[in-house]
Amino acid sequence: SKRVGVLTAGGDSPGLNAAIRGLGKAALGRHGMELIGFRDGVRGLAENRYMELTSASLSGILTIGGTILGTSRDKVHRMVVDGEPKDMIPTIVDVFEKNKLDCLVMLGGGGTAKNALRLSKAGLNVVHLPKTIDKDVAHTDNTFGFSTALEIATDAIDRLHSTAHSHHRVILAEIMGHRAGWLTLGAGLADGADIILLPEIPYTVESIAETIQRRRDRGTNFSVIAVAEGARDVQAHADIAAAEALKASASSPQSKSAAKAHLANVEDTHREHTFRLARGLEAVTGLESRVTILGYVQRGGTPCAEDRLLGTRIGSAAAELIADGEYGIMVASRGEDTAPVPLEDVAGNLALVPLDHSWLQAARDVGTGLGD
Ligand code: F6P
Repeated sequence: SKRVGVLTAGGDSPGLNAAIRGLGKAALGRHGMELIGFRDGVRGLAENRYMELTSASLSGILTIGGTILGTSRDKVHRMVVDGEPKDMIPTIVDVFEKNKLDCLVMLGGGGTAKNALRLSKAGLNVVHLPKTIDKDVAHTDNTFGFSTALEIATDAIDRLHSTAHSHHRVILAEIMGHRAGWLTLGAGLADGADIILLPEIPYTVESIAETIQRRRDRGTNFSVIAVAEGARDVQAHADIAAAEALKASASSPQSKSAAKAHLANVEDTHREHTFRLARGLEAVTGLESRVTILGYVQRGGTPCAEDRLLGTRIGSAAAELIADGEYGIMVASRGEDTAPVPLEDVAGNLALVPLDHSWLQAARDVGTGLGD
């Protein structure tokens, strides 16, 4: 029978336990496999820390948030060990062989897809399952975690409306999503946020202030703004794009590392943009402007039905693909179905909100300001 290892990596995300359970129950039951779970992402894999997963250990976890296996953010080829980055791929290959594994299943987002490809290129049989609240993984309709985070962010903005209209304030709700605007756009639309700011659309304070002023002209003296953590104004976009171009064109290792440091510096100067934006809007509009950062609340707690369903579907489909010997793939969600996608097509390929996407069109149609 096949022996399978599983791990969860990157930020925790609701539905991870549902996917571990879906994979595990199908693997142990229907396919008669053995399953071990590595702790704390690829770090526990490199350190060969694992637990045997039995049907007893998979029982009762479906509704629990986080991950029973623990997680970490590490790169397999540059894992910090004793303060120094170290290539742990050879160590991981040893661990894989020592445990007589036939396959390693990695549950994670974009960073995990890259790690999965690195291990696949080193000769390991790897299957990646797409989880993230950001919904920014390429070639899959959805990622488990997104729907729950969307519900939480929507509920939070609903509640912020109370203070906004009672105090006649501008309230900016900062929402996660890394470099993609899916979560902010989804929650902003579902809430009827007055303005939605996304990483995909550079904003200007003037344009946002105009939207606020138009509302005041109609007698509405409050505004709720859904701001993606990755949203930036026009100037920041231009600065970051220039620094990125410099990095891409650097040829020698020295100029590459200088360009990398410069980019980090530029990105740093544009951090905390939501607070800066609030101060700018207060100065221009004269309305009190306040920031609420939703933070990890968005990733916590029990997964919604949709994420439990998605995790279970993708997990059990993964067991089936492993039984068929299909490796080097991500298990994508396609409508009601799943489909294997080569890791090469997924790794390093961020799925941002396309500018002609129907959600964006709907936002414009209902008169939401997009800051542009
Ligand atoms: O990728 C999920 C996510 O929650 C992003 O939305 C956010 O940018 C990031 O993780 C936060 O990372 P960390 O858990 O390392 O603070």
